Amino acid sequence: MQVTRQKPIVTTLKPSNHPYLNGAWTPLYEEVDAIDLEVIEGAIPADLDGVYLRNTENQIHDPIGRYHPFDGDGMLHRIDFQNGKANYSNRFVRTRCFQAEQEAKGSLWAGLMERAEMSKRPGFGAHGSLKDSASTDVVIHGGKALATFYQCGEAYMVDPETLETIGSAPWGPLDGVSAHPKVDERTGELLFFNYSKHAPYMHFGVVDASNKLTHYRPVPLPGPRLPHDMAFTENYVILNDFPLFWDAGVLERNMHIVRMHRELPSRFAIVPRRGDGEIRWFEAAPTFVLHWTNAYEDGDEIVLDGYFQSNPEPGKFPGAPKGYEHMMGHLDEHSFQSRLHRWRFNLKTGETKEENLDPRILEFGTINNLYAGRKYRYAYSTTSKPGWFLFTGFVKHDLETGTSESYALPDGVYGSEAPFAPRIGGKDEDDGYLVSFTIDELKGKSECVILDAKRIADGPIARIALPHKICSGTHACWASREFLREGKVA
Ligand SMILES: [Fe+2]
Repeated sequence: MQVTRQKPIVTTLKPSNHPYLNGAWTPLYEEVDAIDLEVIEGAIPADLDGVYLRNTENQIHDPIGRYHPFDGDGMLHRIDFQNGKANYSNRFVRTRCFQAEQEAKGSLWAGLMERAEMSKRPGFGAHGSLKDSASTDVVIHGGKALATFYQCGEAYMVDPETLETIGSAPWGPLDGVSAHPKVDERTGELLFFNYSKHAPYMHFGVVDASNKLTHYRPVPLPGPRLPHDMAFTENYVILNDFPLFWDAGVLERNMHIVRMHRELPSRFAIVPRRGDGEIRWFEAAPTFVLHWTNAYEDGDEIVLDGYFQSNPEPGKFPGAPKGYEHMMGHLDEHSFQSRLHRWRFNLKTGETKEENLDPRILEFGTINNLYAGRKYRYAYSTTSKPGWFLFTGFVKHDLETGTSESYALPDGVYGSEAPFAPRIGGKDEDDGYLVSFTIDELKGKSECVILDAKRIADGPIARIALPHKICSGTHACWASREFLREGKVA
């Protein structure tokens, strides 16, 4: 393995005992390029051809007030597989905020958990006062990587080969782009939404494969909401209005306290992907959903799968450090209790049906992206460590037979979101691999693991050493060589 290091960035973060600035969440500052990574176990499949990209959150400066891990600066990690070999690189996303704080040699924006007026400069996000760290998700669209911020940011375009930041997306609307735009690999389109504190509170947009905004329309909500993810079918997108949102009483004083309004239903908007046709709203049991796995059309019905939270407002987390009691609960899947769930919206009758698909606590699902928006059979979820936002393993569901298989990482080793990477020449929906980065908290090392998606219970078929220990984070994606090159998959 040959490693080239970049010039160090300016860092001022002092050591602390913050639960999300230590262990697997210790920020990484080193930026490297590493050629021909060492395979520790097994072999890299020769029919794995493409790029895995992972976004992580790395706080660079001492925070203004309390730190939430979603405040950390976005860093993309990239591993490229071709002909049984792997190369790695990582770079901070050079957002406006990253650059400004490098120049100031300190934090300029207060985070999610603090009062807006503590920020030293006007900020971003639906809050209006946050640092746009582009640290939540990463997708590939139009041959570029797009790093996004969870509370609506500018969406930063990054070269997927060099990880050089190109700049904010030229089509980005004033209210920004939410963390989870969706890419339809068959059409090359990017589907996105945003939300804000001013009417109509939400918009839906489409950007074509040549980076042109082709569609943008309001999806009015009754007030400011906090939708996190969206899903799509061949003809519709599904947006949401969940009853977990800012307390309107204190929001008037510019304080952002999230509260579950149990008296309200969950509401789902079925919005045509093209044109300005009618938006149909459906109601369902109150919950909050962070992430969907997929959606598709089935006769008169729209089927939507995602992770239903039984306890979206977990309250104070026992034993949490002072000031972090609510944050610890909101980051713990076992506190908010997310389970794989299916909703069916009947376009003819207006009726909603819903059912739980698995009693286990799961989240952060992935699928074979060629089946996104289409009837699909396999979903891959992650398990997490009780009390912590740390991934401990993977579960594969066969949604046709109702069976599943799982793999647990060794104790003290935490994974990353594990997208599905189709095998070259693969025929079945699950003909491919799951790719993930791991962090070994005790050994202070990171690896890339590859699992055979047909047999995930067997564990990794390849373990590859990364040149440094990475920081934990939120989302990752896979892009095949064809999709990177062509912007769509035939
Ligand atoms: Fe997310």
